[in-house]
Order: sequence, then C-alpha cells, then structure tokens
Amino acid sequence: QGGKVVVVGSMNMDCMINVSHIPTGGETVRAGNMVSLPGGKGANQAVGAGKLEGLVYMIGRLGNDSDGKEIYNSLVSSGVKTDGVVFDDSIPTGKAYINVAADGESTIVIYPGANERLDRSQVRQYEQLLDDAQYCLLTMEISEETVEYTIKKCQKKNVKVILKPSAVEKMKESLLEKVDYFVPNEKEVMQLIPEAPTIEERADILMQKGVKNVIITLGQNGCYLQNADYKGYFPAAGFYPVDTTGAADAFISALAVSLSEGNDILQAVSFATYAAGVSITRQGVQPAMVDRRGLSLYQEEIGSFYNE
Ligand code: RIB
Repeated sequence: QGGKVVVVGSMNMDCMINVSHIPTGGETVRAGNMVSLPGGKGANQAVGAGKLEGLVYMIGRLGNDSDGKEIYNSLVSSGVKTDGVVFDDSIPTGKAYINVAADGESTIVIYPGANERLDRSQVRQYEQLLDDAQYCLLTMEISEETVEYTIKKCQKKNVKVILKPSAVEKMKESLLEKVDYFVPNEKEVMQLIPEAPTIEERADILMQKGVKNVIITLGQNGCYLQNADYKGYFPAAGFYPVDTTGAADAFISALAVSLSEGNDILQAVSFATYAAGVSITRQGVQPAMVDRRGLSLYQEEIGSFYNE
C-alpha cells in the first residue's frame, strides 16, 4: 500500500435519470429508468482510491438520514477510513440530479445540503489526519473558504494538493500557486482561462500562475499533461461509454493512488486513464469504479490490443 491520501470534499446521493437526450429549455422528456446511487465528487474520489487499495481517509459531512447512511456504507465497504466523516442532524445529505443521455454524456444539478456545512472548524477538528498524508484531494463542491483553508494546512504540513475546479468561474491566484496537480476538464479550463484559445496555451497560463502539474481531461480524447519537464497528450483507453458521469473522479483517485505508490507522473496518468476508461462502461459512479484486480486485467487486455 502507498502513502496516505486524504479527501476533503462533497458527498451526494445521485438521483440518475436515463434519457434519450438531455432536454433543453422548455422541453419535457420521459425517462427510461431512474436509480439512486452514492456519489459526490469527494466521496467518489475516496471510493475510487479505496477500491484501488489506496490508504484513504475521508473528511466530509452527511445528513443524519438514510442517504447519508448509504453513502457512509459505500465508503466503508470500499476500504475508506471514515474518521473525518460527520453526520449533521440539522440538514439533509447533499443530492445530485443527473440526466444521463443515450450517448453516455450527462448534466448535473446539485443541492449541496450538508456539504455546505463542511467548514474550516471541521477541517481543523480532523487536521491530524493530514499530518502524515502525502496527498490531499480537493474539489469545489464544498465552500471555497474551506478549500482555501485546507490548501493552507496542506502547505504547512507538506501535503501535496490535487485540485479539481468544478463549478467555479474564477480561482484566486494565491491558491493556484499552492496547487501541485490541477485537474480541470476542457469546459472548466475554458471558463477559468477564457483569454487563451487552445488547451496548450491555457495550460501555459496555469503554469505561469504557479501550478506545478496541469492535467486537462478531454473525455474521449484522453488528457493533456504539462509540467516543467513534459508537455503531451495521452489517448483515452478506448472503452465504449455507457455513463461518463464521474470519469474525472475515477481518474483523479487512480492518479493519487499511483503517485502515492511512488510512480512518476507519466505512469500515474496512464494508470488513471485506464481507471477512468473502465468507469464509463457502467452506470453510476461509485459502483462503476474498478478494483485493483479488475484494473490489471483490463490493462493486460487493452495493452495487447494496442500492441497489435
Ligand atoms: O463527478 C460526478 C459527481 O458530481 C456525481 O457523483 C455528483 O454527485 C456530483 O458531485
């Protein structure tokens, strides 16, 4: 097992609805199927890392309700240490309403619920979990203030930060310079750096702002990595998409596990590419995440496919 990974992030019950296509304004569509599954970017990352046999701790907040208990059980059964998880009596568990179209693409609307109350005092209460950690995984489905506070703690404790900027239009420059691995998708990076026309130029600007490694995930086109020594694209693993929701969570969890085992960034990105690829072949996020054995089998199979 590699070094310790701590996730500070959101946990939601995902209400997933299968539709032929994503409805636009004023349109009504009939769903083919509906299912509720444990999700939330933070919990997904923790479960993904747990399934890949990482040593992973979760700091997060659930409502004291049946959704909260189901998410908690999903963490525990995936091997995640839940010392930093708090049940809040005064607010429901976060929810995500997700439309999944026939081509696997999805849209998400979030009700934050208890995630909104994951504040600096909760992080302070469990900050000893960060003491001997190697990596901290952060997303922006919790308050920016909590993210900022956690990043500062990580810096003091020498913990490397992996940040995915979802649902934010701006990021403080003072935060970016403290981020070791910044992992936006194409839309997120476009929103954050609208002034640059290409992926490469957006990555250049993020590097100038002090990010140490920029990884832009590109869906079926794989990802783009840039750091001081390397610039280049990685192809996607080539799986057929059933539900692409949470592919980035699967990617980031595998990236963290691989880095925590001492692999270099190129090895970690290609490991993460496989984990994300497998996750899109099944419905849901946490149930779709692959375990270690499953991932090695897929890697062998696809490896030989690529070599032919
Ligand atoms: O990244 C996918 C996740 O985003 C879903 O599980 C949903 O809960 C939202 O947080």
